[in-house]
Amino acid sequence: MTQHQPSIHVDLRSDTVTLPTTSMYERVLSAPLGDDGLDGDPTAQALEQSTAIILGKEAGLYVPSATMANLLAILAQVQRQEMVLAGAASHIYTAERGAATVTGAFYQAIPDQSGALDPDALAAAFASTKGNLKTRLVCAETSHNNEGGSVASLEHMRTVYEMSNAAGVNVHLDGARLFNAAIALQVPARVIGAQADTISVCLSKGLSAPMGAVLVGPEKTISEARWLRKLIGGAQRQVGIAAAMGLEALDTMVQRLSSDHEHAKDLAGGLEGIQGLRIRQPQTNIVQVDVSNTGMGAKDWETQLRTRNVLVRPWGPTLLRCVTHRHIDGSSITAAVQAFQAIADGRRAPLQQALTNSFSTFHQASSRK
Ligand SMILES: Cc1ncc(COP(=O)(O)O)c(C=O)c1O
Repeated sequence: MTQHQPSIHVDLRSDTVTLPTTSMYERVLSAPLGDDGLDGDPTAQALEQSTAIILGKEAGLYVPSATMANLLAILAQVQRQEMVLAGAASHIYTAERGAATVTGAFYQAIPDQSGALDPDALAAAFASTKGNLKTRLVCAETSHNNEGGSVASLEHMRTVYEMSNAAGVNVHLDGARLFNAAIALQVPARVIGAQADTISVCLSKGLSAPMGAVLVGPEKTISEARWLRKLIGGAQRQVGIAAAMGLEALDTMVQRLSSDHEHAKDLAGGLEGIQGLRIRQPQTNIVQVDVSNTGMGAKDWETQLRTRNVLVRPWGPTLLRCVTHRHIDGSSITAAVQAFQAIADGRRAPLQQALTNSFSTFHQASSRK
């Protein structure tokens, strides 16, 4: 089977650029199909059950995107004018909070450095009455996208879950990259799953499926989410065509994530040697590169890297995000490091020339005195 292959040599913009594998296409051909908006699609149901089992939950719901999985988790557990506490740097808070126009909920940020919610801030938020606003849900994220793919410890996750339980508040985990976290912590995914009531996992990031996410949790919550999915137009018909690829992704793509983590470490190691760059050590597949000491902004780095066939994403005025995935191998890492090095050398050369010029001008001027 012919597959479209990425034409760019090194695409580190995101693990969402990954293309389906041949075995994913093959799985579609034999997938039993039905009407998921009517009486069910057997392949979508199989994916929902498998994901729920893997994460140790009662039920699952297949949805088009991780954003929709998070939205449904909030809609199913929070009423209008109730409070959601979410990590200040989390995807739910920074990128999905506009959903308040749909959920009618209030969102309060809890500091979440290195992907760990601050327990003191959480306790203070639970204790605060905030004009009688009821806090209903805590949203955590692991691995943490904006915090360089960091993974909070299991002990921390347990603390957050126990504190929330004691306050009568549910926990939703945005586990768009939960399998990366499980690999990093070297535990089965259900061990992380046990630290939250509902969890969303994404199939179209490092797992390479072309689309889709699954929300898992208690039967009652998931059945409410299923109804809400229909309400917002997320029920599809022969969706098993996509779900089959998701099932294949779960079967074949999880263990290989460790190789993405190795490549991220190699990339970090290579970039560390380049003058001016400051590298955040990766725990999973995301490498953050601070370019503030290079005299060039993130946008300029992105442009210059692009001319050398290396794609990255500015993640702030002086921060770049590089993500490793299935289409990145050892030679991609070497090429990326070489491109960074060439740009850094190019920056130094004019600077050195300017210093040499000003030194000789000064020398000539002083010898004339
Ligand atoms: C942590 C996290 N959650 C949710 C999402 C949203 O995923 P999707 O694009 O599938 O809606 C992303 C996307 O990058 C993410 O990084």
